[in-house]
Amino acid sequence: MIRKITINNPIDTGSVVKEIEPERHFTTDKELDDATLFERFAADSAAKTLSLVLKDDEQVYGLGETVRGMNKRGWTYTANNSDDPDHTEGKHSLYASQNFFIITDGKKAAGYYVDYPGYLTFDVGYTIHEELRIIFTDLDADIYEITGDGENSPRAIVREFRGLTGQSYIPPIWAFGFGQSRWGYRTEDDVREVADRYEKAGVPLDSIYLDIDYMERYKDFTTDDEKFPGFRDFTAEMKKRGIRLVPIIDAGVKIEKGYDVYEEGVKNGYFCRKENGENFTAAVWPGRVHFPDFLNDDARRWFGDKYRFLLDQGIEGFWNDMNEPAIFYSDEHLKEVFEKIEDYKGKNLDINTFFEFKDLVGTIDNNPVDYRSFYHNFHGKNIRHDKVHNLFGFYMTRAAGEAFDRYRHDKGTDKRYLMFSRSSYIGMHRYGGVWTGDNKSWWSHILLAMQQMPGLNMSGFLYTGSDTAGFGDDTTEDLAMRWTEFSIFTPLFRNHSCDGTRKQEYYYFDDVREGKDNPVKAHTDTRHIDDFRKIVELRYALLPYIYSEFMKAAKNYDMYFRPLAFEYAGDTRAAETEDQLMVGDYMMIAPVYKQNANGRYVYVPEDMRLLRFRAFDDYDEEEVAKGDHYVKAGINETLIFLKKGYKLPFAAPGKNVDSMIEDGATEDSLSELKGWKNLQYI
Ligand code: GLC
Repeated sequence: MIRKITINNPIDTGSVVKEIEPERHFTTDKELDDATLFERFAADSAAKTLSLVLKDDEQVYGLGETVRGMNKRGWTYTANNSDDPDHTEGKHSLYASQNFFIITDGKKAAGYYVDYPGYLTFDVGYTIHEELRIIFTDLDADIYEITGDGENSPRAIVREFRGLTGQSYIPPIWAFGFGQSRWGYRTEDDVREVADRYEKAGVPLDSIYLDIDYMERYKDFTTDDEKFPGFRDFTAEMKKRGIRLVPIIDAGVKIEKGYDVYEEGVKNGYFCRKENGENFTAAVWPGRVHFPDFLNDDARRWFGDKYRFLLDQGIEGFWNDMNEPAIFYSDEHLKEVFEKIEDYKGKNLDINTFFEFKDLVGTIDNNPVDYRSFYHNFHGKNIRHDKVHNLFGFYMTRAAGEAFDRYRHDKGTDKRYLMFSRSSYIGMHRYGGVWTGDNKSWWSHILLAMQQMPGLNMSGFLYTGSDTAGFGDDTTEDLAMRWTEFSIFTPLFRNHSCDGTRKQEYYYFDDVREGKDNPVKAHTDTRHIDDFRKIVELRYALLPYIYSEFMKAAKNYDMYFRPLAFEYAGDTRAAETEDQLMVGDYMMIAPVYKQNANGRYVYVPEDMRLLRFRAFDDYDEEEVAKGDHYVKAGINETLIFLKKGYKLPFAAPGKNVDSMIEDGATEDSLSELKGWKNLQYI
């Protein structure tokens, strides 16, 4: 059952697709403070807070892409989409806001969705362990309680919630293949080298991502004619080799006379404005930019249609970035900082002034003051950005999603396009997936990625994954291998890294051994790239399972990744196991995420069959009984646990997804396990 209450005058965010009449609409503080919402929440309108008492045995799941574990109890999470590359435990928000959570004691459960697009805090037993508090900036919200349709399990609640918010985005089938990315492929030849070296190493590959360097001076919907001459031909050349190019699109439009996107945006009033009506100026990669007002229907349509520039050149997928939006600085703020810096000149900086001085420059990016200084034209009203901040990435991606619909319509096809975004809010899951942003090459971030998956899936983001092997900081071979052993299960499987970090395309780990970067020339074998190849091939062999389970989850409003707690209700060991995941209906994974470990403890929640893969065609298997086990997993071994009696569909891996598909098969038939070449069951 879904119940709704409305408090004051909420903004219609567009996240919900089903009209639900509110059972109460509170318009005065007194009314609200006197009520017990959903028989559970007490309101304190002066403190702009709703709170409820958490029982000792209650766990809280959800809140999408956040730091820390799957059970969110014990920390404070803030809905405040932030461009922050340090995903440490002390943080409160990352790039996304998904304000949906479930409270369960293992017997009964209830879900809550707080549809509010501004800055919102969830104190989940942080201040007081037995209390969950929701602290608003303005008390204007639609709040939903979801208790399941006939069945009251967390999974049933998720299904009902997703019926409320609409079907998840479904990418094209090639987007389930492996993608290689790096910020730093500066020319066509850099990209060709990636394709050549993967081909030489025999590693399957479906896509190569183009980061900001393909653009002419970081201008959206341009290509650099010197470094990427003949972009259309290049796209076709790569496609012929079975590889799709996936360019990045950034939120900011460079301010440059004569640049059509800029000129049109100015002429038509499509950019976000300051209070005085001037276009708001911020700086991102291209230097000074304006932000398209994606919340304005006309501007959104205009920006969306710009993707055609690349679609018409054969591009079939994109990633939307910097759409929190990230702000390096604003003109106004920069000016203020320079003025203030003057005051410190010649001063002896003491304990107070030194830190003030340091913060002046240190807080110049993504500053809350800037988010309060521009406006949107949303539903015909002028709304200050901070009030709708968390919708910006959603609406940028919606711009693309709606444009793809028009493009499909014009071309008379039903072709799917790849789209995923960094920033998001519930509702965006109908238009694209997400990746988890700028993580680091840290062991703890393999675990973080695993723990982020169920929260994202709950709120509809099924097409998701992390930057495999880590984006920031230097990776190592063992870390990259362990991370890959996890990422082969994520629908979005991409190796991506930051310019300036150690290169982590899998073939680099072999070069070291060939002596290219290693004067000692101690190792000459190719075992290492072979191991990576075998793990990536295992992903391809598992595609019939991964794809059909993904499609089932998308069509049934279900989850592809689930915490064990959702599957084994009432099992307290399952409830506290947060480093294993259910994948689809029949599989459990328990990736190794610790340095120098040759195995790990696994909680097996029911008698299962364990497959230990060294390659898709080289594995051993054993029966494991319900209980705790230490399970061996050498550096190149991937563990898969299957429910008993289940036969795993499995296909011979090809060089890319297309090569594994029989003529005449469709994306729909493949999801029903029809049309894969050499399908077997193991
Ligand atoms: C942002 C993105 C990252 C990308 C970089 C350069 O940090 O999150 O993936 O490589 O920008 O475009």
